[in-house]
Amino acid sequence: MLLRLVISAAGAVIGVQLLKSIYRHFHWHLFSPFRYMPGPPNPSWLRGNFWACHCSFHLHPISGDSERPCPQFAQTQEWQAQYGPTFRFHNLLSATTLYTIDTVALHRIVNNGDIYQKAPMVRYNMTQLLGQGLLAVEDEEHTKLRKIMSPAFGLSQITRLTQLFVDKSLELSEFWARQTADDNGWARIDVLSGLKAVTLDIIGLAGFNYNFHALDTEREPTELDGAFRQLFLQIQRRQVRPSTLLRARFPFLRAILRTPKRLVAARRTMDRIGMHLLQEAKAAARSESNEKDSWRRDILTLLVQSNMSKEIPDSQRLSDDVVVAQLPTFFVAGHETTSIATTWALYALALHPEVQTTLRAELLTMGTDSPSLDALNALPYLDKVVREVMRVHSPVVFTNRMAMRDDVLPLGIPYTDTRGIRHDSIVMSKGQMIYIPVAALNRDTRIWGPDAAEFKPDRWDAVPDTAGAIPGVWSHLFSFLGGPHNCIGWRFSLAEMKSLLYTLVRTFEFELAVRPEAIGTTRTAVQRPMLVDEPEKGAQLPMRVRRVETSNATAEVGEEGTGPDPEGIQARRTGSNTSGILRQRVD
Ligand code: HEM
Repeated sequence: MLLRLVISAAGAVIGVQLLKSIYRHFHWHLFSPFRYMPGPPNPSWLRGNFWACHCSFHLHPISGDSERPCPQFAQTQEWQAQYGPTFRFHNLLSATTLYTIDTVALHRIVNNGDIYQKAPMVRYNMTQLLGQGLLAVEDEEHTKLRKIMSPAFGLSQITRLTQLFVDKSLELSEFWARQTADDNGWARIDVLSGLKAVTLDIIGLAGFNYNFHALDTEREPTELDGAFRQLFLQIQRRQVRPSTLLRARFPFLRAILRTPKRLVAARRTMDRIGMHLLQEAKAAARSESNEKDSWRRDILTLLVQSNMSKEIPDSQRLSDDVVVAQLPTFFVAGHETTSIATTWALYALALHPEVQTTLRAELLTMGTDSPSLDALNALPYLDKVVREVMRVHSPVVFTNRMAMRDDVLPLGIPYTDTRGIRHDSIVMSKGQMIYIPVAALNRDTRIWGPDAAEFKPDRWDAVPDTAGAIPGVWSHLFSFLGGPHNCIGWRFSLAEMKSLLYTLVRTFEFELAVRPEAIGTTRTAVQRPMLVDEPEKGAQLPMRVRRVETSNATAEVGEEGTGPDPEGIQARRTGSNTSGILRQRVD
């Protein structure tokens, strides 16, 4: 009897979903403003163009000139060339999706957070993994959270954290210097894994005063290490798992297709340990001596202080559960993106040895291995290199939004439909999906000229006026997005990346350990390097790394060692964080 009831209920739900799909299908063909919009044909009702626009790709033509990279996300770029900056394609289950790099349209999309939001199914997935973190919430909840979290990511906080970024960069240098080298001093190293470890250590300490000791390969992993590793594994797997997509798309399937047990266990561990870290942070925030204790200036402590502030009305305060839910978000959003960006920076420097040499020469003019944030920001060539890496190798390739209500989307460049009619706006219906091509906008030839795909740091000497139209929060780029959901950690990641490059490029020379054609990227929204012949090994970037000649380095520093050495920093840097490598060379 019960079984019959369950089967009938399941049948009814599937029937309703089927009817809805049929209705949507006919409605689209009869009324949708998208039915005449140009775009690629739909090869399959089930898969749409999904695999085509998420394909992995070679960064270089197999037999071509290694200096001329192939366009990233080759298929969408090809469509863009064929149909213009605005077109439509079909996603899974043939869901019509708008693709646009039109800056006027994107400006409206990212700046109107009440109309264009992450789709409920995307938010469901994020909540499953990360809880109610900043990435997953919208509307008032988001505004409230963002207001309380913002001080922890402000300039003064990042200035303070820079010492940690530099210390950890020096630790990575020491770690790489210990790797076995050949007779000429070259060691083969997967730079991505080292950078991932160091950024994990940084986000642990800077985020919630927790030391992962990720660079210490002999240490037994802690319970929290295990939980975070599991979370990370689930994130990488879930991006492409059909059951995840189905559960997110059809809420009625959530009761049948259960969340993986390992993920549930990892979340429980994180919540329990997170609650403990929160209690410690609360105690530190209450303590009067807190100001003197620099390591208790982590993001969690500042968030707690901000939440306890008298200026915050009680109705706006965050509950403990919501504060704890931010920890996995810092962990996920805050460590891999920066390690990937820095890996791409080393990749670009290896492909462009002249840029590497110029950068090293600038860095070696500094007479300290512990620069302040101001000192790092005062290095013009380092700044240009970082901007160019974030432009050409934006770690986040795309994101998505959904129209939460009907709207009219203005266009800077009108499109012509398949009947020959020009449109200077698009009628958006509630539920319309949008694919936001972050990386493609950064490399748009209409903005940056015909050499837009090439890595040329000197282009930042004369930024074209057209770049002003990009609605990004930083540097005429879309890499950190814009509007109310822009990346809260952009200052953090830039300071971290500059600290890493400062230390590593002063200490080592970098070359690719494989042919450029052997390197490709993963097919995920966060783009990681991999070897096209070793996809089973996942993301990696093997490089040849060799210590910079001591005599050259010493000579240059001796002549022009004018860089600032902020008071007390050298004296403070004792114990395992103090760099043996650089101190021997520079002093
Ligand atoms: C190179 C490094 C980074 C890149 C390229 C990057 C990029 C982005 C992008 C594109 C978004 C918007 C996603 C969307 O709304 O669809 C975002 C959001 C976010 N990022 Fe980053 N990020 C980086 C580093 C960091 C760091 C270091 C942290 C924290 C320590 C961080 C924390 C966040 C958070 C919490 C959000 C959600 C903001 C909100 O919705 O209000 N990110 N990031």
